[in-house]
Amino acid sequence: MLTITTSKKAIAEQSADCLAFFVEKDAPFSKEMQSMAHTFFPDLHNLMKDREFKGDAKSVLIVPVSGHAHVKNLIFIGLGEKDADKYMNLEAYRRVVGTLVRSADRINAKKVAVELPAVKRFGVDLHDLAKETALTAKLSAYYFHDFHSDKKHHYTIEFELILVHDDSKAVTAGIKEADVIADATNLARHWIDSPPSVATPPHLAAEAKKIAKKYDLKYTVFNEKQVNEMGMGGLAGVSRGSDRDCQFVIMEYHCGKKTAPTIALVGKGITFDSGGLSIKPADSMEAMKDDMSGAAAVIATMQAIAQLKPKVNVVALTPLSENLPSGKATMPGDILRFYNGKTAEVKNTDAEGRLVLADALSYAVKHYKPDAMIDIATLTGACAYALGPFFTGLMSQDKELSKKVQEAAERSGDRVWPLPFHDDYKPAIKSTIADICNIGSRTYRAGAITAGFFLQNFVDDVPWVHLDIAGTAFDVPDLPYYRPAGATGVGVRLFVDLLMNW
Ligand code: BES
Ligand code: ZN
Ligand code: ZN
Repeated sequence: MLTITTSKKAIAEQSADCLAFFVEKDAPFSKEMQSMAHTFFPDLHNLMKDREFKGDAKSVLIVPVSGHAHVKNLIFIGLGEKDADKYMNLEAYRRVVGTLVRSADRINAKKVAVELPAVKRFGVDLHDLAKETALTAKLSAYYFHDFHSDKKHHYTIEFELILVHDDSKAVTAGIKEADVIADATNLARHWIDSPPSVATPPHLAAEAKKIAKKYDLKYTVFNEKQVNEMGMGGLAGVSRGSDRDCQFVIMEYHCGKKTAPTIALVGKGITFDSGGLSIKPADSMEAMKDDMSGAAAVIATMQAIAQLKPKVNVVALTPLSENLPSGKATMPGDILRFYNGKTAEVKNTDAEGRLVLADALSYAVKHYKPDAMIDIATLTGACAYALGPFFTGLMSQDKELSKKVQEAAERSGDRVWPLPFHDDYKPAIKSTIADICNIGSRTYRAGAITAGFFLQNFVDDVPWVHLDIAGTAFDVPDLPYYRPAGATGVGVRLFVDLLMNW
């Protein structure tokens, strides 16, 4: 575990074994650095020159200290050049923080003191800079180690990170908020990284129930029999091929103010997507335990907001199911009827996410009449191909809600990019024998967008944003605050920011 604290004491007086410094580009040797060098490494200036350390982004210089009572290493980390885009400075800083955590871990540091950089560069206040630092550090330290029996493979990062600043009130508050968001994000990652035979629909429902109980949220769950009886033909149809019960889980957070807006979050929870009878080829199936990343993000968000208490009401709805082939499975050609009465022809059982979301969206509209609704889903390979691993696809025809989500995305680091969501694509999902078809016709091609238009049939006139995280939920490379393999917990930071700043 990484613990994060704050201290007002000057950095040189910290009782830490590692002192770390963020260094602006081309300004590696400040006044403060001179006195530091005097105490710990008199030849520091020359060392920096010899090693050509200029403060480039993510560049690292580790300097061992000898003869000091407790300081063993100094770490210098470049902040790089200032970017014209204000949000990019914050994102670059997150990567720097990730690099710091990894560097400190590599030298086995136990206590690392680092002075927070000046807030000016980042366009946020001190509270938020401390929050981003602590949150990012905790994301960087995440590792899924449930199944490593060899201690040598125990990559858990464990040390204390002391954020040095003289305004301890703002920094302490920032760290506190970060703890809540990081714990939630890492919890989502843990579920996603867990094997599909562990993170099953009943397991996730039980996890959600535990959270609801602990943090006093309203919790409702429907099992497969009830799902069938309620007329949720999409969820039931997807689950039919599996021996495990599907679950439809609802969690509610009430802020205490009746007039406050209600926001519905809907997360795709396919705990394993084999494709069903339209079975996936082996290599496309490999990572399909991640197909519940939307549900994981939504449930984890509820844990965070139950503690942070935004001034909005929030309802989370997650249809949880496996998508497996069997003698009972839904067949291509079958027609399913959803909770709102509409029907869809299933031409491909691998386009199952939209089928379970259709029921959940319909249910949210009917029972909660939300002021805004956002769904999050590992919905299409097409989206992953279009945008790659760094941006979540955003689809919406509601300008105001899109703007809100886009701003929260920029601030939080869970970045989104809008895809054209124009009515021109609508006819792609026409069917000759049912209301709609679950795959877009070939000539329209844009698979991420046509999937979005399928979902549109179930949102009525509720302001709605669809987020496709197929590319961003799992195996995101190059970002030092993630692991190159495994879950990112995308969506949690975004939702918490959105709800807190509604
Ligand atoms: N879960 C997949 C989408 C996916 C693909 C997520 C890659 C993450 C990485 C989804 O259920 C799916 O299989 N979609 C199909 C839809 C197609 C049959 C219309 C796809 O994208 O190929
Ligand atoms: Zn699928
Ligand atoms: Zn899927």
